[in-house]
Amino acid sequence: MVSPTTMAAVRASGAIPNAEYLLSAEGVRKEFPGVVALDDVQFRLKRGTVHALMGENGAGKSTLMKILAGIYTPDQGEVLLKGQKIRLQSPLDALENGIAMIHQELNLMPFMTVAENIWIRREPKTRFGFVDHGEMRRKTAELFKRLNIVLDPETQVRDLSVANRQMVEIAKAVSYESDVLIMDEPTSALTEREVEHLFTIIRDLRSQGIGIVYITHKMNELFEIADEFSVFRDGKYIGTHASSDVTRDDIIRMMVGREITQMFPKEEVPIGDVVLSVKNLTLKGVFHDVSFDVRAGEILGLAGLVGSGRSNVAETIFGVTPATSGTIAINGKQVSIDSPNTAIKHRMAFLTEDRKDTGCLLILDILENMQIAVLQDKFVKNGFVAEGELTRVCEEMSKKLRVKTPNLSERIENLSGGNQQKVLIGRWLLTNPRILILDEPTRGIDVGAKAEIHRFVTELARDGVAVIMISSEMPEVLGMSDRVMVMHEGRVTGILDRAEATQVKVMELAAQ
Ligand SMILES: Nc1ncnc2c1ncn2[C@@H]1O[C@H](COP(=O)(O)OP(=O)(O)OP(=O)(O)O)[C@@H](O)[C@H]1O
Ligand SMILES: [Mg+2]
Repeated sequence: MVSPTTMAAVRASGAIPNAEYLLSAEGVRKEFPGVVALDDVQFRLKRGTVHALMGENGAGKSTLMKILAGIYTPDQGEVLLKGQKIRLQSPLDALENGIAMIHQELNLMPFMTVAENIWIRREPKTRFGFVDHGEMRRKTAELFKRLNIVLDPETQVRDLSVANRQMVEIAKAVSYESDVLIMDEPTSALTEREVEHLFTIIRDLRSQGIGIVYITHKMNELFEIADEFSVFRDGKYIGTHASSDVTRDDIIRMMVGREITQMFPKEEVPIGDVVLSVKNLTLKGVFHDVSFDVRAGEILGLAGLVGSGRSNVAETIFGVTPATSGTIAINGKQVSIDSPNTAIKHRMAFLTEDRKDTGCLLILDILENMQIAVLQDKFVKNGFVAEGELTRVCEEMSKKLRVKTPNLSERIENLSGGNQQKVLIGRWLLTNPRILILDEPTRGIDVGAKAEIHRFVTELARDGVAVIMISSEMPEVLGMSDRVMVMHEGRVTGILDRAEATQVKVMELAAQ
């Protein structure tokens, strides 16, 4: 290991030749039990560039970056920082060497404030050795000002939206004044406006000579922000190109090794009777007077900016936070849904937006995570769980969704982000719902699997399921929905039919 002090000394003495690459990995191999996550891969990051990493779920992107950020040590191969071999011992070691990483699954402490989270383990101290809260607040405010972030440093992180948490993570990484900034799907929870904001920050950092690694599944982002990109497939390095040299289809071909033609396979299915009817639903101070119907076979898209109340409405319908007033009826009968359990009994399913907080039970294995919602009834016979049958069904489901894992007894924590999402989708599909609420279902899902999930949702609609789909991805909402309901600041600002729903109209209603 090169200690930070010696690194600094060497830097100061100018002994390091101006290496062509800021950070590189050569011949890296990393194995986990039953999986070769990386097999002889290379990666080379230049100064002052944004370098995107592309590849299907489970391709090895996060693993490679975790090696560069000192979280994993490679089984083989080496990492070079400015041409010098380094052996990083820990994330802190990486940070001290100028390498910061923003993780795919956010890592903040919910019960600490924004400022405390940013300066954790390096809090400014008073001369008596206590944490200097005033100074910490001041430094945070300064950092936020520089990044144009409007957030109170004293807020507890648990009170922040996912988008704001992501902004805090970004600010924290920037605060280390690193030479290398690794971002693992940083925009998965951001709206277009926030993405633009992030891009401004990234461009600014790039112009200061910082090298930025940017993992994404979003093709348009690649073309907008990345100078170069590298593609990985099944743990193998496929190639590196300038973004200006390729088309979207070229990249998809490199990623999946086959063509994907139809992205949003909308199928006209017969629309039946109203299944879910929501009237004047209100959660005081959060959303007001929300009314809409969803019919059997219908996909109702729910668009709006993050914070517009879309997820809150979904949570209330599912009984997470019961409404202050208004009514919910299922198949024409008014129901009182006071808890998720009641909702599940009414055959409702809800895929939440935040898989780490409310979705995955990280310490359980895949099988247990999938079974959790069905255990209540279908597979319980005379008080016993029909385990064999349940396991078989889960195996079938994970095959259908192409969950990449050695076996279903793997802890879900060890799956790649996109594969965790697939397990959660599988969980809800297994409950055989008649009302399915999906909150950002394809977040972090690769292009191939995304088309697969869309096809699945379409099939459910064909079977008569009423679907509500919250999505910040405009092509997904417009492509999949029969109608699009738009929310703004806790109110419904319009419900558009498929034919009249255009990007411009939806944006107008969303921004007002
Ligand atoms: N800690 C771990 N233990 C066991 N297996 C792991 C662990 N971390 C990753 N893997 C496996 O290594 C492979 C690569 O995972 P990785 O997270 O790098 O994929 P990814 O390219 O980031 O995918 P995604 O786009 O879904 O985030 C996957 O098969 C994953 O299940
Ligand atoms: Mg990943």
